[in-house]
Amino acid sequence: MKRVLITGVAGLIGSHLADKMLDAHYHVTGVDNMLAGRMDNIKLALRSKAFTFKKLDISDKVAIRKKLGGLRFDIIVHLAASKKIGESGSSLKVLTNNLESTVNMLELAKKHKAKFIFASTSDVYGVSKDLPFREDGNVVLGPSYIKRWSYAVSKLYCEHMVFAYHHDFGLPVVVLRYFGCFSSRSNYGPSGGHVPMFIKKALDGDVITIHGDGSQTRSMTHVADVVNGTFLAIKNDKAIGNIINIGSNEEISVRGSADIIMDTARRLSPKTKRSKIEYVPMKKVFGDYKEIARRIPSLAKAKELLGYKPKMDFKKAVKIVALEMSR
Ligand SMILES: NC(=O)c1ccc[n+]([C@@H]2O[C@H](COP(=O)([O-])OP(=O)(O)OC[C@H]3O[C@@H](n4cnc5c(N)ncnc54)[C@H](O)[C@@H]3O)[C@@H](O)[C@H]2O)c1
Repeated sequence: MKRVLITGVAGLIGSHLADKMLDAHYHVTGVDNMLAGRMDNIKLALRSKAFTFKKLDISDKVAIRKKLGGLRFDIIVHLAASKKIGESGSSLKVLTNNLESTVNMLELAKKHKAKFIFASTSDVYGVSKDLPFREDGNVVLGPSYIKRWSYAVSKLYCEHMVFAYHHDFGLPVVVLRYFGCFSSRSNYGPSGGHVPMFIKKALDGDVITIHGDGSQTRSMTHVADVVNGTFLAIKNDKAIGNIINIGSNEEISVRGSADIIMDTARRLSPKTKRSKIEYVPMKKVFGDYKEIARRIPSLAKAKELLGYKPKMDFKKAVKIVALEMSR
């Protein structure tokens, strides 16, 4: 039985990945500092004898030695991160947590000669106009005095760090650039992305706020597709040494997704009729940050190396998640 360590296990992707790996008979150790994670997300995993949970901050080297010192891992899936912040938040946590956690997990992987899977993000493509985004394309990021770019920069720096361990120490690594995903285990605040937040507001009869005119596009999928892509990368050694986009290539505007969500929620909740869509000027929310107008991945490499193809379309994913959230 292979032993896997999942960091950020009580978050969205980590908790679903733990369930999938336990089903596939892996021995799973999951860690989370519970800053954004929820115990409820891992209640299914906790029923398994093959699952161990440790509350641990992986930016703390001493705590890692104390809690993981005696264990062995064949695979480390590093998902824990501080996600993007608005202009009112501090970028310090994003920059320090993401870098320190990743270096600590790379050191652990080196010690255990473990395969290292790193969760990066589509945000690293920035405002590149080279669509669909290909893994070998250039990245185009905005100026560093705009805090919102700190998340993309932290992930890009970590990608370089991951490849440094690959080249200098022969560590088997894979960088997955995730595009947006959601489930009923998502965080319903801004860090969980617009879709789960809109579903919650529509079901509760609250106002759905769209930044700008809503014409900006995203490709959002059910978390099951992202977890499936991650699982394929874990199992397939052709992925080693590669950056691979994972997600959906169905492009939907933010306004279009709000319409689909309202339509779905109306059938599930009587409160939805009170809900409405409001638009706020981009400048008011993000200051000088230039919103990414279109975001769509090329999935050619994921298909070629892993046989990956997303299975669920956006409408179906919204239907499943809204139904779960309305219960
Ligand atoms: N969900 C998406 O749509 C998406 C898109 C692109 C990239 N990603 C990346 O995928 C990864 C997982 O995303 P998610 O949506 O599951 O995020 P999430 O916020 O739901 O989960 C991340 C988890 O990491 C934990 N964590 C953060 N710092 C930690 C630390 N120092 N020690 C221990 N635990 C820590 C948090 O408490 C949280 O439970 C992240 O690295 C994220 O940047 C996600």
